[in-house]
Parts: sequence; structure tokens; C-alpha cells
Amino acid sequence: MENQPIGMFDSGVGGLTVYKEIKKAMPNEKIIYLGDTKNFPYGSKSKQSIRDLSKQNIDFLLEQNVKAIVIACGTATSQALEEVQSIYKVPIIGIIQPTIEYIKSKESIKNVGVIATRGTIRSSSWEINLKKQIENINVYNKECPLLAPMAEEGWIDNEIAKLTIHEYIKDFPKLDALILGCTHYPLFKKIIEQQMPNTEIINTGEKLANYMKDKIIEVEKILTNTYKDKQNIELKEDEIYLTDTECNFINVAFKLLNEKIEIKKANI
Ligand code: DGL
Repeated sequence: MENQPIGMFDSGVGGLTVYKEIKKAMPNEKIIYLGDTKNFPYGSKSKQSIRDLSKQNIDFLLEQNVKAIVIACGTATSQALEEVQSIYKVPIIGIIQPTIEYIKSKESIKNVGVIATRGTIRSSSWEINLKKQIENINVYNKECPLLAPMAEEGWIDNEIAKLTIHEYIKDFPKLDALILGCTHYPLFKKIIEQQMPNTEIINTGEKLANYMKDKIIEVEKILTNTYKDKQNIELKEDEIYLTDTECNFINVAFKLLNEKIEIKKANI
């Protein structure tokens, strides 16, 4: 099992923000990434469609012999995680619980905002789970359906991005923290930080990566490469698959990772 890769999926380029954090926390783990670009965006689809697409993505990753699955997508985490965890034997982790664990550890966070896709916000998953696990927390939600498509286009640092973000966040009360509940949104982190200088901006991919590495004992045994002497590991290239390659993925990936990546076509 030790040399098997970790599989991850998202609807597009957003999950690479999680990929980046996992590489930082666990550089020896090989990753197979699937971007379901053919079915982007997930944020406007029904719960049933998100569940069906998630299963399709997991089946593809299991065919690549992965040892664990990371749902690097807020929409799929909020609407499909429980179901797929009950179906598959492989460990599956999403972005919500690791972030809640982090917030639990910070008593100063009492007023928290969540920005995410329409599907995620309408599922109320963040609000339900935050309130279930943290007493007296106030949660303010805002669906931001334009942001993920803008990120796919690479419009992450222009005037339109600034105005759109302003429009979405302008009605929030004073917040201690803002959860970027869609994995595309860390691409806008700089702009959001400029507009909310006194609020902690939470990148869920970072919380997931740290949680995976440090806190989940049951997962520890599957992260064998992480706990092995680096010298002994034969590092293999990560693999990035897309279900449709006619998109801007490589350019946005370059802006995020500062590296030229190669993509393969996933025939699903
Ligand atoms: N990156 C996704 C998320 O975290 C999906 C965005 C979309 O496909 O609408 O929700």
C-alpha cells in the first residue's frame, strides 16, 4: 500500500489549491488529480448529480489504484461526502471537518462567514456542522456563483475580480474569520485579504492537508511515504487528469503552482 498514490478530485482547477497544500505538507506522497472539467460547474447542479459525479470520479481514481481519496471540492464535500463514505471502503476525506477542527481550536473565532457555491450554501452543511460542534458560534453565509467560473478563466487578479468580490462580501458584519468554502476561492485570497484586512481568511485546503498529516491517526498508516526516510523513496511524477481538455486549466495551474504541468485525458 505504501507506494500507492492519493487520489483527489474537483470539478476543475480549484482542487489544485488543495493539491498545493498537500504537496507542502506531504511532499513524498504521489498524487493523482482528476478535474471533471466536462461537468464544470458543480455549484449549480442538483445534489443527485453531484453524488453521481462524485461516484464516477471515485471509481476512476480507484482504477488508478489510489490508497485514499481527497474530495478537493466544497460542493461535493457538502453534498456527497457522507454517501460516498458509506459506500466505499477506501478512506475519503473532505474539506469541511478539518476546517471545523481548526476553528474549534481557536476560541477567538465567534463570528464566521462562509462563502461558497450556491449548492454548498443551500445544503447548509457548513452552518449545520459548525453550530453542532461549536457553542455560540454565529455563521453568516453568502453564495458566490460567479467566482468559480471566473477562476477557471484565470480572472483572479483583475478589476472585475475585485468588484465581484466586493459585491459578495460587502454586507457581512464584522467577522473573526471567513471560510473559503469553495476550493477555487484561494485563487482570490490576496484580493479578499485586501478587502477584509482584519478578518482571518481560511484556506480549507491548508486545514485539510495539516489535518491529514498530523491529526488523523487512522489515516496515518496510509501515509506511509510521509513517515518514511525521504532518501528511500522513489518519487514518481504526479498525474493530472481532466475529463475535457478544451479549457484554460494549464494557464491557471501555472499561475497557482508556478510550474508547467502536463495533463492527461480521463475517458469517463
Ligand atoms: N471547487 C468547487 C468547490 O469547492 C466547485 C466549483 C464549481 O464547480 O462550481 O465547490
